[in-house]
Amino acid sequence: MTRNTVQGILGCIGGTPLVELDGLLRDRPARVFGKLELANPGGSIKDRTALNMLLHGIRSGELVPHRSVVIESSSGNLAVGIAQICRYFGLRFICVVDAKTTPQNLAILRAFQAEIELIEEPDPVTGEFLPIRLQRVRELVAREPHSFWPNQYANPRNPQAHHRTMREIVDALPGDPDFIFCATSTCGTLTGVTEYVREHRMGTTVVAVDAVGSAIFGDESRRRLIPGHGASAPPPLLDPASTWPVVHVSDLDAVVGCRRLMAREAILAGGSSGAVVSALERYRDQIPAGATCVLIFPDRGERYLNTIYSDTWVRQNFGEVSHLWKESGIAAAGRL
Ligand SMILES: Cc1ncc(COP(=O)(O)O)c(C=O)c1O
Repeated sequence: MTRNTVQGILGCIGGTPLVELDGLLRDRPARVFGKLELANPGGSIKDRTALNMLLHGIRSGELVPHRSVVIESSSGNLAVGIAQICRYFGLRFICVVDAKTTPQNLAILRAFQAEIELIEEPDPVTGEFLPIRLQRVRELVAREPHSFWPNQYANPRNPQAHHRTMREIVDALPGDPDFIFCATSTCGTLTGVTEYVREHRMGTTVVAVDAVGSAIFGDESRRRLIPGHGASAPPPLLDPASTWPVVHVSDLDAVVGCRRLMAREAILAGGSSGAVVSALERYRDQIPAGATCVLIFPDRGERYLNTIYSDTWVRQNFGEVSHLWKESGIAAAGRL
């Protein structure tokens, strides 16, 4: 192998670029960097989580290539990450999804030869799909011999995967960053980054970026339009004794953040990346001169072309908001 080749597609997971962005906090003397997790081969940060959980299963002997069947509930990025790794290792993958899963994600999962288990009706009491999906996972785990359930919501290998994410950030910068902005759902990224900061006694403030309508930090769960960040219940991985500064970002502000990232930095990223950009904007008065901020961008924008990047979808869901493009410097963006 030369220095420029890797052994198989899984060697492309991690080692994502850290890019300096000078268009986001233009009138503030602070440095801003974006960690482009969208550069992972499955398109998101969840490739790291999937790889760490499955490799640990293989090393511990719980997961045997060409024999075991992996069963997980996910309709988005983690499912794609697991599907790719399972294809690579010749593992069966049964993916429990629900009626809200996009046709594009289903097509990607089928392309990787995942078996789809579709939950069509939500819980009649709460209206949530998650409890029914988890119940189905348990039934499948009981039914299938040699089954392996990574269980991203409670598996410590999920946060552990992000010690490496944080180490890459630290290694790429001349000094410790002052702020890291992390979008939250299972809280694997937030927990892993925070553990690294504590273990290395760094002075970095980790800012949690959640969705308005998410129940992670104690609010009531409400309908949200943009998948990725947010959750309908606090995840078991979240340490109740820890606290973080939390910025709650609305669906519309996540859209504005995506459009701003596109207009000012030419980066086509997903909804939670837009939420992180909007959170930085909301936080700007608390960022001192000379500070270094890192924004983690979890996934690519291609899977949001029919929603966040569609003017028709935006108008249908938020009304006429084109004035926001001007107010937030999107319409007149560009570098020259
Ligand atoms: C697009 C996107 N952003 C953010 C997150 C949140 O990451 P975590 O589960 O590590 O909290 C996810 C998780 O699936 C995601 O898919």
